[in-house]
Amino acid sequence: PDEISVGELASRMKKTGAEVVKCLMKNGVMASLSQMIDFDTASFVAEELGCKVEKEVVVTIEEKLIDTTEDRPEDLVPRAPVVVVMGHVDHGKTSLLDTIRNTSVASGEAGGITQHIGAYQAQINGKPITFLDTPGHEAFTSMRARGAMVTDIAILMVAADDGIMPQTVESINHAKAANIPIIVAVNKIDKENANPDRVMQQLTEYGLVPEEWGGETIVCKISAKKHIGIENLLENLALLAEVQELKANPNRAGQGTVIEARLDKGRGPVATLLVQNGTLKQGDIIIAGTSVGRVRTMLDYRGNRLTEAGPSVPVEIAGLSEAPVAGAPFFAVADERMARELVEQRKAEERAKAAAPVQKVSLENLFDQI
Ligand code: GTP
Ligand code: MG
Repeated sequence: PDEISVGELASRMKKTGAEVVKCLMKNGVMASLSQMIDFDTASFVAEELGCKVEKEVVVTIEEKLIDTTEDRPEDLVPRAPVVVVMGHVDHGKTSLLDTIRNTSVASGEAGGITQHIGAYQAQINGKPITFLDTPGHEAFTSMRARGAMVTDIAILMVAADDGIMPQTVESINHAKAANIPIIVAVNKIDKENANPDRVMQQLTEYGLVPEEWGGETIVCKISAKKHIGIENLLENLALLAEVQELKANPNRAGQGTVIEARLDKGRGPVATLLVQNGTLKQGDIIIAGTSVGRVRTMLDYRGNRLTEAGPSVPVEIAGLSEAPVAGAPFFAVADERMARELVEQRKAEERAKAAAPVQKVSLENLFDQI
């Protein structure tokens, strides 16, 4: 890429090939017109001949299409915090969100087990908070990891009768890896065999020392079922969010992350998206991995139609060419033709990768390999 042929260099400098070849020869380089020379050699020759060489900046379609400019501080406005609820299977994550929203999703789920990420918004003291529910089943590691990656705060649910279990530990690790603060909710304290002190003891073993024991971790004792301690948990959540001073710029093209996606029999590919910056609008062209299309319909978590969704708003959209991969970033873009071109390019890259799974060994990486 940083090379140019002798002939091309000559024509760009409006010199003859012979002049350039002669100059190279004078400096000990034997080269024909078609020979490629590197940047340093080219600039040396150019200077000798009274010209200046600049590196060509190659702009990829991706760079042309996707706006990744940083927001100016004056364009930023407060946005709702995004909170993920994580923990071991059956410790009460969905029940907590039900209680917050006053509905009953948990009892309507197949076998009471969450199998996908649910995204909701609730108003706490008049301010919106976005919640992501995650499954606690061990099979859903990647969903927990993803949940932690796109959020600002994690609520770690630990059932007081069960204590810290494998997916509790995994959730702690995901939150730590994502560098987000953890609020612990010790749930099911209404149960006869609840032992919140034992949970607190266990937490300290994972570096989560409760505030009441002189540490820094907020631990709220709650019962999602009996509605005990929920207000206190939400107040702590709101406080933590306030301290973070979360902001975004609603006045740019919408962008964010694919939370989950599936193929719906009637509606085709359907994706749950979390808008993280900008505003996504109905009719927007979006690109997510190798999926592209227009936002045909946009629904909020209650199934109500939306025409616009700003930062921190989760939406379900239809209109994409295929179900995008969960976790993929998405972008609203201005040029549909270019978006389709970029998708074709990405697909070709994927095919090439699949066809050549063996990594090439070069001198540079030889030692890393062994
Ligand atoms: P997964 O999504 O499968 O990981 O489970 P979950 O963490 O969402 O748990 P869910 O909310 O589905 O609750 C599991 C069971 O615990 C249900 O039978 C709830 O009724 C029960 N449960 C949840 N919270 C409480 C509570 O505070 N007290 C009591 N006694 N039971 C609770
Ligand atoms: Mg659940």
